[in-house]
Amino acid sequence: MKVLTKGFPVSDELWEKAKRLIPAGTQTLSKGPDQFVRGVTPKYLKSGSGCHVWDADGNIYIDYPLALGPILLGYDYKPVVDAVIRQVREGTTFTLMHPLEVEVAEILTSVIPSAEMVRFAKNGADVTSAAIKVARAATGRDHIAYSGYHGCQDWYAVTTPRDKGIPKVFKEFMHPFEYNKIATLEAAFAENPGKIACVIMEVPGTDPIIDPANGKNFLQRVKDLAHANGALFVMDEIVTGFRYSIGGAQKFYNVTPDLSCFGKGMANGFAISALVGKREFMKELDEVFFSMTYSGDTIGLAAAKATITELLSKPVLDHIWSMGEALHTEVNTFAESAGVNFRISGKPPRAGLSVKNRKGEDDLLLKSLFLQETVKRGILFGGPVFICYSHSPEDIEKTVEASCAAISVIKEAEESGEPARFLEGEPVGVVFRQRT
Ligand SMILES: Cc1ncc(COP(=O)(O)O)c(C=O)c1O
Repeated sequence: MKVLTKGFPVSDELWEKAKRLIPAGTQTLSKGPDQFVRGVTPKYLKSGSGCHVWDADGNIYIDYPLALGPILLGYDYKPVVDAVIRQVREGTTFTLMHPLEVEVAEILTSVIPSAEMVRFAKNGADVTSAAIKVARAATGRDHIAYSGYHGCQDWYAVTTPRDKGIPKVFKEFMHPFEYNKIATLEAAFAENPGKIACVIMEVPGTDPIIDPANGKNFLQRVKDLAHANGALFVMDEIVTGFRYSIGGAQKFYNVTPDLSCFGKGMANGFAISALVGKREFMKELDEVFFSMTYSGDTIGLAAAKATITELLSKPVLDHIWSMGEALHTEVNTFAESAGVNFRISGKPPRAGLSVKNRKGEDDLLLKSLFLQETVKRGILFGGPVFICYSHSPEDIEKTVEASCAAISVIKEAEESGEPARFLEGEPVGVVFRQRT
């Protein structure tokens, strides 16, 4: 496979300006240069088609972070882009409400098990925050039990190392628990009796553990525990929504939450998110203050309608699952046979890279080597590994070929005893996502 040779002069020049003009240099931390191997990776992408993206210098890549998840069908996907262009001509926002608000709300209630009512916003953090407000309003309680990542707003950001600018007192309300360790949630309830308004969690790639004692999966046990303690059960489906199944992880695992949050994949890259849930709780939004200029923006709504129409009429998710499965199986089998502690881990539609050294420790240097060797071969990997409807079997084959070559380099680097010598750029920094 062709090794890229064009270099990144345009990207590099833009970055020099960005450092002067834009605090942190980027709008989205996970897109920043330190999440990739600097020196061998472009910093700016300019266009996309299907599963391919072009950087600012004209190099082409097969993309796997897919804009951190929103691209579910593919870049420049015609039915969605056509719907959006039509809507742009008709108008993007008005003085009064728009019919699409009702139409898309109706569609969501028909495909998401927990959705009896719907409110829209733009980013995931908008609606996870709305869920927290609703839960607090419904229960009269302030505390939150949480697992996973939920966005940059104060109630959650205070639990992360990026807590600057947030009153420390907010932290007192937050109680982490660990995915698939029910005892950690039991402890949170035991230590805060009558105080926890809701349990909010995302579903990582790991399967929910089935409890042999009662046959219940972990999500059901969380829901039961929340309800037994008078708290709401909130599923954060920003990533899993429309990827695990059209109805999200809740439909896939057959557990219906009280409230759930959708975003990312729901409009194939156009900005929209949704809080959905049971009527009795969603009605709190009659009084809870949740109102923004662009919540009902018609572009996101038109894109969501077109995206969900595609999902309902074409084998999009079957394709995503089978392409993901082929990629994971082939690459992981090769890594195992090579004796390299590397895995694409998680579910076919939602995965990540696990790169460990021979001592079994996560190793950012070896991960950087993998990213370096694949990007040089025209494959853009990053933190998350997503598949879209436009990844073809040929794209997967090219990716497997590049990944196996990269794994062979890791093997050689480890055997040399000096893996750092193999790195041509600066290694990736710690990923800014914490999972409790
Ligand atoms: C599970 C989960 N929840 C919430 C969010 C926040 O979404 P946004 O970045 O759109 O605010 C993210 C973002 O990655 C996420 O992965």
